[in-house]
Amino acid sequence: MIPQLFIHDLLGRVDIVDAIDRHVPLKKVGANFIACCPFHNEKTPSFTVSQTKQFYHCFGCGAHGNAINFLIDYSGLSFVEAVNDLAANVGLQVPQESDTHSREVNSISLSQSYIDDEYSARSYEISPQDLIAAMQTAAQFYREKLKVSENAIAYLKKRGLSGKIAARFAIGYAPAGWQNLEEVFPDYKSERVRKLLVKAGLVISNDDTKQYDRFRDRIMFPILNQRGQIVGFGGRVLKQEEPKYLNSPETVLFEKGRELYNLFSSRHAIREANCVVVVEGYMDVIMLSQYGINYAVATLGTATTSLHIQKLLRQTDNIIFCFDGDKAGKKAAWRALENSLAHISDGKYLSFLFLPEGEDPDSYIRNYGKESFEKKLKQAMPLTEFLFAEICSELNLQSLEGRAKLVNDVKPLLQQVKASALSLILLNRLVELSGINRNELEELLQIRPGRKIRKLENLSKQQLTTPYRRLIRALIYNPNYSVKLDRNLLVECSVSDEEANALKELIGFIDAHPHLMKQTKFTASLLTFLQDSSYRALLEKIESEILEWGDSIDLEVEFIGALEKLQQIHRNRRMTELRSKSLNKLTEEEKRELQRLAML
Ligand code: UTP
Ligand code: MN
Repeated sequence: MIPQLFIHDLLGRVDIVDAIDRHVPLKKVGANFIACCPFHNEKTPSFTVSQTKQFYHCFGCGAHGNAINFLIDYSGLSFVEAVNDLAANVGLQVPQESDTHSREVNSISLSQSYIDDEYSARSYEISPQDLIAAMQTAAQFYREKLKVSENAIAYLKKRGLSGKIAARFAIGYAPAGWQNLEEVFPDYKSERVRKLLVKAGLVISNDDTKQYDRFRDRIMFPILNQRGQIVGFGGRVLKQEEPKYLNSPETVLFEKGRELYNLFSSRHAIREANCVVVVEGYMDVIMLSQYGINYAVATLGTATTSLHIQKLLRQTDNIIFCFDGDKAGKKAAWRALENSLAHISDGKYLSFLFLPEGEDPDSYIRNYGKESFEKKLKQAMPLTEFLFAEICSELNLQSLEGRAKLVNDVKPLLQQVKASALSLILLNRLVELSGINRNELEELLQIRPGRKIRKLENLSKQQLTTPYRRLIRALIYNPNYSVKLDRNLLVECSVSDEEANALKELIGFIDAHPHLMKQTKFTASLLTFLQDSSYRALLEKIESEILEWGDSIDLEVEFIGALEKLQQIHRNRRMTELRSKSLNKLTEEEKRELQRLAML
């Protein structure tokens, strides 16, 4: 038995878009992601995934569920396997409510059974699992070669790397020579193996006959994805040559904008330290780790993308970017800032640490030690400060023009910010710096932090829907609204009304599980917990309607609107009931009630 609270926690941490996209590439359209449905045959996509609500729904075949359901239905995993798989991705340990049977089930190696499935399903095509196996073989080969290469060992020693840390990061060496991989891929020259190695990015083949190893005479750093599988390599030259680093090309397995070096192995340390440090290079991560800082990750020779940010923000509330103090470092930091703004929610904290000119984390920690580096981390510049420092650095705020330019430059940044506290802080600072008052600024920037100016997209459709249905929708969207619901309104509703009964069941569940509702991040679909409900199909249908809401829904307006509608229906029903009695049969109390109802 896996505790329900853990399932909830897990679903709050994984991203269904990530989980599905690994198997079925998704495309962003409006607020949602779509693809051709993997559960039935279709030519135009009706399979829709909501990132905000973390469920998928197919408008064609009705397939519906959360990330766990997807793995069960798509990959054929058991429930326990699917949970383990997702947990491994986000670095959570699955707690076990002691039960010998479940321990047995859990002990099955997941990735193994998954690999077997994949192999038997398509033995001819090159599957992602084939690629992963090839990467694994290559990594093992490089490691063996490092052990016997004096040059490579001497190089690593010269850089101050311990043998232990080299082993921990599975560092290897690709020997000089053109076709060394033949040693571990005996059919290296067969069509199938050549295709496999080219697809994995290990071999370069210009035409169908020539082929040679991509990595030659380089120190090899394996790059793991979030499941701990090797999806790419970085290879460094030993001497001063160009390019200094050669990375695997983008493959089916490996997208630089998605992966972060060391994220897999640092998950636990990140949680423990309650922060992650983002650095620029492989060697930075490795040297920090040698000095006991295990919560560092590196981008892979690319700018920090918004995908990176989203990934990291799911692991921790606190990101510290650590870049060189030079111009390039500032530029990298600025890109990271730009790609972060839209994803920061209140309670998340991003900061920037710039090392002294000429130092990178690798050299800094070797020169000054762990304590000094950690002290620096604590002094990192908050995002808001960095934002204004950068923008103001080239402006003369004494002049009107300078202040106008300031507002102009901040505008596109501020408009991306969704977190209300952050947006207020930025706005207040802008008021100080520009000397323009708050109201005028809001007008100028076309924003109103902390206030929603959102409307329902489709009012006419709304009016046709029953208030029960609307309340169910609102509660699925945010169960916390149940406290605002007057339960008396449900007492008298007709027993034959399916929607009313489904609503009652939903409320019953919410009431019975206050601990779940208290969680601030209720991102998992409520229906996760109602898989056995007799109204499941109806509830899924209603949940799917949320997909049309987009991100701009004002739930407060929707919920109160539905509630008023329900009250009105009750009122009308009661008035009809009272009026159907002849006036002289009404008691004094009933007369007063009728009067009161008529007045409302
Ligand atoms: P750096 O040049 O700062 O690398 O590039 P580094 O880690 O400090 O290198 P060492 O200390 O000389 O070994 C930072 C990162 O940019 C990418 C790599 O991911 C590197 O770790 N890079 C750099 C490339 O992809 N190709 C290059 O030629 C150089
Ligand atoms: Mn370096």
